[in-house]
Amino acid sequence: MKYRSAFTATLVAVRDRVARPNRPLALSPADRLDGVDALVTGATGGLGRPIAEKLAARGARVTCAARSSAAAIVSGIEARGGRAVDRPVDLEDLRSIDALVASIDAPLGLVVLCAGIVPARARPTAQGFDVMIGVNYLASAYLVERLRAAGKLDHGRIVVVASESHRSAEHVDFEGLGVADDYGMGGVMRRYGYSKALLLAWAQESARRLRPAIAVHSICPGPVESRIAREAPRWAHALLDPTMKAFFSPADLAAEPVVYLACASALEGRTGVYFHRWIEKRPSELACDEAVASRLYDATYELLARRSAP
Ligand SMILES: NC(=O)c1ccc[n+]([C@@H]2O[C@H](COP(=O)([O-])OP(=O)(O)OC[C@H]3O[C@@H](n4cnc5c(N)ncnc54)[C@H](OP(=O)(O)O)[C@@H]3O)[C@@H](O)[C@H]2O)c1
Repeated sequence: MKYRSAFTATLVAVRDRVARPNRPLALSPADRLDGVDALVTGATGGLGRPIAEKLAARGARVTCAARSSAAAIVSGIEARGGRAVDRPVDLEDLRSIDALVASIDAPLGLVVLCAGIVPARARPTAQGFDVMIGVNYLASAYLVERLRAAGKLDHGRIVVVASESHRSAEHVDFEGLGVADDYGMGGVMRRYGYSKALLLAWAQESARRLRPAIAVHSICPGPVESRIAREAPRWAHALLDPTMKAFFSPADLAAEPVVYLACASALEGRTGVYFHRWIEKRPSELACDEAVASRLYDATYELLARRSAP
């Protein structure tokens, strides 16, 4: 399968970037976020940073949440007359997500779930989940549920940054959900695609359950020049770094369709939209299977409730 190894996934990314048309949709000057409080996870990342900056430029007050401090990004936004706050969070630890939710000081009208990782090896999170599933999927599901429970997210939009690699997953392992098994270096891309399949299925189910108050859209940004491969072995960087530079999208460009999903008035009344860069697509059969997604949604929150209990 084309997304099952880092090598073939990179080739697919390069092909998509070079061969597929990418026609931007226009946001109107009226597509503003004045008065909207927004939260962006992964705001210090290649993609998250320009997303946070562009949302602020459209008037949102942006809470920048990432593992490291976003102070420099916040300062830059403020220097351009925008509003932003820095709220470091470790998505590998549900308690840190609780602290982030407690620190949110105004109800949110927009959440962009952008943080994501490709760890070189399996390792457990603070609550014992596989870290790839923990950060790429469970943390986002937990964050949204905690925000809603705290009355800090009851309207607006959620934009989920997923990946076309979700198409490599064919089923959901309900018994092993979040289990920190060792998939080895050869299994990294398969696990990454699986984590994004869970994320997309959850996003589609969230779109059904949270409508009409909250719209949930998802996107694969396509190949983006970023630090996503930071944990790759040194020898792999010799191939990856020049490939990224030559063929992957500059993050500033890749952020544009994410911002479109976040604030286009053309999407009013719609939910569950999935973009691959600028192209609207149907997610995989697995992510669109309503029975699977509904079971996954319930199983996820049962698991999170068990593991987050003090
Ligand atoms: N790059 C691509 O080609 C590509 C393609 C398809 C999809 N995506 C998706 O795009 C999203 C953004 O990735 P990127 O390419 O911008 O990668 P990146 O440059 O590595 O950025 C990742 C972001 O996630 C944050 N993060 C990682 N682990 C975290 C944790 N435990 N707690 C809190 N924050 C954490 C990072 O924070 P720190 O800066 O503090 O580490 C950083 O802000 C991801 O969901 C990725 O899966 C990327």
